[in-house]
Amino acid sequence: MSHVWRPLYVVLGIVAAILIARFFVVPPQFGVWERGYMYGWHNKAAETWWANFRVGYKGREYCKDCHPDNYNKIMASPHKIIECEDCHGPAIGHPDNPPKLEIIKSRLLCLRCHTKLPYPTSLRSQLPGFLNPDEHNPGIECVSCHDPHSPVLGGK
Ligand code: HEC
Ligand code: HEC
Ligand code: HEC
Ligand code: HEC
Repeated sequence: MSHVWRPLYVVLGIVAAILIARFFVVPPQFGVWERGYMYGWHNKAAETWWANFRVGYKGREYCKDCHPDNYNKIMASPHKIIECEDCHGPAIGHPDNPPKLEIIKSRLLCLRCHTKLPYPTSLRSQLPGFLNPDEHNPGIECVSCHDPHSPVLGGK
């Protein structure tokens, strides 16, 4: 019968070795110590980090009272579906710190969204307003012709 018991001892030995190793290897801030594998499978120190995390984006209602012209213009344009902070960056702390938000006039700001991508399955190539940057007035900043807050020339 020992040919049956011996492999079992080996298995029990491996399990015991894993449990002992775990005691030394799993770091104390790993939540598994208190709540088991089901809910504790993460770095417990990260809980404090996330609790103190401040979301950097405020949303455009925050801008409305101080920058009403930009707000009203964009809400009457096709760009009403994008947020101010898509172009100006996160506004947390503004206007105290930073007192101003970034203004980017490069073509790349617009082409990040407006480059026509050829991938047929993404449907991106069918969205309106997407163009080939090599053909549409290459070398000139988009904002020298289009107002980013009301981009349709002739108004909309
Ligand atoms: C409490 C008022 C207030 C709020 C809210 C506010 N701003 Fe401002 N913002 C200012 C002031 C004051 C300045 C600096 C004066 C100026 O240049 O107009 C400024 C400057 C800016 C500038 C730079 C303007 C320039 O000419 O350089 C941008 C861009 C800007 N804000 C965007 C935003 C956006 C986007 C939001 C919302 C996410 C926002 N602001 C919310 C008051 C505000
Ligand atoms: C599509 C990108 C984009 C979006 C979205 C956008 N802006 Fe701008 N914004 C710009 C650019 C580019 C300029 C600089 C334009 C120029 O000088 O020709 C600018 C300029 C500004 C300025 C400087 C003064 C002025 O009127 O030119 C303020 C203030 C401002 N934006 C606020 C806002 C607010 C508030 C929103 C949302 C309601 C917003 N922007 C949405 C790209 C954007
Ligand atoms: C964050 C993505 C994003 C950025 C950045 C952006 N756009 Fe747009 N733009 C859009 C979307 C989405 C639409 C709406 C498309 C639609 O009509 O469904 C749009 C619409 C437009 C339209 C109207 C197109 C039409 O046929 O009605 C113009 C013109 C335009 N954008 C120019 C610009 C310019 C110039 C810039 C840079 C200053 C810029 N956009 C930056 C996403 C963006
Ligand atoms: C020299 C001026 C000029 C420059 C620079 C320019 N455009 Fe245009 N754009 C126009 C004119 C004119 C139209 C046609 C009138 C309209 O549809 O508003 C147009 C049309 C568009 C349209 C409408 C969709 C279409 O294909 O008809 C979008 C989107 C657009 N431009 C985005 C951009 C972007 C993004 C940039 C920068 C990469 C840019 N434009 C640079 C003048 C310019």
